Amino acid sequence: MRVLFLGDIVGRTARNDVIEQLPLLRDELALDFIVVNCENAAGGFGITPKICDALFAAGADVLTTGNHVWDKKEIIDYIASEPRLLRPLNMAEGTPGKGIVQVTNAAGKRLVAVNLMTNLFMAVNDPVFPALNDALVRNKLGRDADFILIDVHGEATSEKMALGSLC
Ligand SMILES: [Fe+2]
Repeated sequence: MRVLFLGDIVGRTARNDVIEQLPLLRDELALDFIVVNCENAAGGFGITPKICDALFAAGADVLTTGNHVWDKKEIIDYIASEPRLLRPLNMAEGTPGKGIVQVTNAAGKRLVAVNLMTNLFMAVNDPVFPALNDALVRNKLGRDADFILIDVHGEATSEKMALGSLC
């Protein structure tokens, strides 16, 4: 399984490079899936529907975000109707959008993508450890997915390494 994960894409230059290169990279690297963290792709803060559409059109299968996901307000309506754009799973209940998605490619392979945000040195969110544990209980490699990608967005390396021990 070949999965390309890119991010955090920041601003126009990086965004345009990614949009231009993705179709070439998909062929050249024989990629099964492309996942892009795009939370700062719009002028360095946030993401817009237009940019999401351009990234999907270029070949991104899933877009992930983080603490800057709501910086451009127009994304709130978009995320509610686009399950392939994720926000961190452990945001408060009732937050628009979802933090996990399963996509299937033309060959029938299944990717589960999970987007999480850590707690240390970050704004208040639900605890990240039980959120990851719950996602992994619900999605078993082999049973529910051929590949599970977890984008952990955060500040503290120690917390991220500890999260890795759950996987
Ligand atoms: Fe961020």
